[in-house]
Amino acid sequence: MSRLMSRHVPRLLRSGRPSHGFSPSSRFISSSLSRAQQLPGEDARTTHFGFETVAEAQKEARVGAVFSSVASSYDTMNDLMSLGIHRLWKDYFVRSLNPGSRDSEAGWNILDVAGGTGDIAFRMLDHATNINGDVKTKVTVSDINPEMLAEGKKRSLATPYGNLDRLKFMEGNAESMPSLPSNSFDLYTVSFGIRNFTNKDAAIREAYRILKPGGVFAVLEFSHVDNALFNAFYKRWSFSAIPLIGQLVAGDRDSYQYLVESIERHPPQEEFKAMIQEAGFITPGKGFENLSGGIATIHRGVKPV
Ligand SMILES: C[S@@+](CC[C@H](N)C(=O)[O-])C[C@H]1O[C@@H](n2cnc3c(N)ncnc32)[C@H](O)[C@@H]1O
Repeated sequence: MSRLMSRHVPRLLRSGRPSHGFSPSSRFISSSLSRAQQLPGEDARTTHFGFETVAEAQKEARVGAVFSSVASSYDTMNDLMSLGIHRLWKDYFVRSLNPGSRDSEAGWNILDVAGGTGDIAFRMLDHATNINGDVKTKVTVSDINPEMLAEGKKRSLATPYGNLDRLKFMEGNAESMPSLPSNSFDLYTVSFGIRNFTNKDAAIREAYRILKPGGVFAVLEFSHVDNALFNAFYKRWSFSAIPLIGQLVAGDRDSYQYLVESIERHPPQEEFKAMIQEAGFITPGKGFENLSGGIATIHRGVKPV
């Protein structure tokens, strides 16, 4: 164990969090916890915030504080978390969904949930416009955090869409979006957002409600590496380097610590696929696609016609 890790683990234990030895058994515990989101004997209304167990009511505010804190250094955060590869993953995610239509009068109606600074929305509009020649497709960016949305709106002014009604921003919790009508969107995307939700099942059910029959639910998220050797290296790097770099670059160790812990707590690929199916979606083919050995994964579900 590195000096940094050995200093770090006692801090985690002091704070009541489980240690992360990355043994197969800790992975098993992590996996089973992530589905139930609680430890045996705990109050049913608790959930996890990284490796901490917190009251459900607290999680939203604490996640909010993390993203308010990182909003202005958001690109740095993503570059650190993914070694810059998030840009390629996002490009691929959007390309694989091929938004926009060459022959439809109406274009696609897309909802990008937890859309933050607009990374996915701008790519969607670029793809629809430049690849499919579709200038009707529109994107609503929804996010719970006003600071992230403000950053997205500011960035949109540097794109061709800043002042067009093809791009809208809306504040809202993905778990309940009553202002959005049922059966109204062609595509629902959520990129690097869903692992932060308190109740992922509620958010997936809400996605199902607002998608049209035949509509697609698509998730890009950090996930679980499938090769044991690579996994050991990746975990060592992410748990030791990312919080340290977060401290040095953004002066914010705790937010970065949360971000790596939240990845560990996100359900593994097959389990997450089952959650999507439980909401009623069909998951075509294998149901998910690993990127970079499973560091990130794309899950897709289709609402039956
Ligand atoms: C890591 S950022 C991802 C932003 C963007 N989608 C991307 O790929 O770069 C996670 C976003 O999830 C948002 N978020 C967290 N919990 C949410 C919730 N319950 N409902 C909607 N957005 C949420 C945060 O405010 C934050 O903007």
